[in-house]
Amino acid sequence: MFQHVIVRTPCQSLIEGITSANLGLPDLALAMSQHEQYIAALRQCGVALTILPPLDAYPDSVFVEDAALCTPHCVVVTRPGADSRRGEAALMEPVASRFYECVERIEAPGTLEGGDVMMVGRHYYIGLSGRTNAAGAEQLIAILQRYGLSGSAVPLTEFLHLKTGCSYLEDNVLLATGEFLSRPEFAAFDIIAVPPEQAYAANAIRVNDKVIMPAGFPVIRAEIERRGMTVLEVPMSEFEKLDGGVSCLSLRF
Ligand code: GLY
Repeated sequence: MFQHVIVRTPCQSLIEGITSANLGLPDLALAMSQHEQYIAALRQCGVALTILPPLDAYPDSVFVEDAALCTPHCVVVTRPGADSRRGEAALMEPVASRFYECVERIEAPGTLEGGDVMMVGRHYYIGLSGRTNAAGAEQLIAILQRYGLSGSAVPLTEFLHLKTGCSYLEDNVLLATGEFLSRPEFAAFDIIAVPPEQAYAANAIRVNDKVIMPAGFPVIRAEIERRGMTVLEVPMSEFEKLDGGVSCLSLRF
């Protein structure tokens, strides 16, 4: 069970966030409204929310997932691979440290962003992406092993982050699209195959007894519900414009 969730209010500089999406600039007022709806969905999941203030110096700072990895035993302060985001991790450390006695850090030359880390029980899949390098993944695996956890690297080429293209929803269910449909390490999962034109729906989060997913994907929603899960949809258009998904907007632990 997750007890805590950390989110950060979108900042005025949000429109300067990194993007490859070609969907236009986000509308800040609409992004604020969508963020509030995201928080409202989280409130239905039985977690205590910590809402951090906006950070105008970091346009992408609403995507808090990338700045830290919260495990059951320690928090790992990351070292984002995007230069414009690197400072976000140091600012997350004092916040995350309120909840953890054990604080670990990814050090140079390693880079690692939380969007590349998918927890499946006591094992963590770590995407090797444009943001997370092999040194970062090796450091994280060594940290996890010190706490009786494990990790393994998953190369990827099609997506920004590992969880841009796949999400573990517990109960052996994996949402997956693109290159992750054929990864051998995922073969034993009950895979919900997300077609390429709906790839944005491959990023969803299970928070206790609910699944939070982006609005507008009724077929994928039905597949999740067919497996006995309760789904909450949230509008995400303004964050999609910045390559961000529902997982990116929170730290859950
Ligand atoms: N805009 C989200 C990211 O690139 O990290």
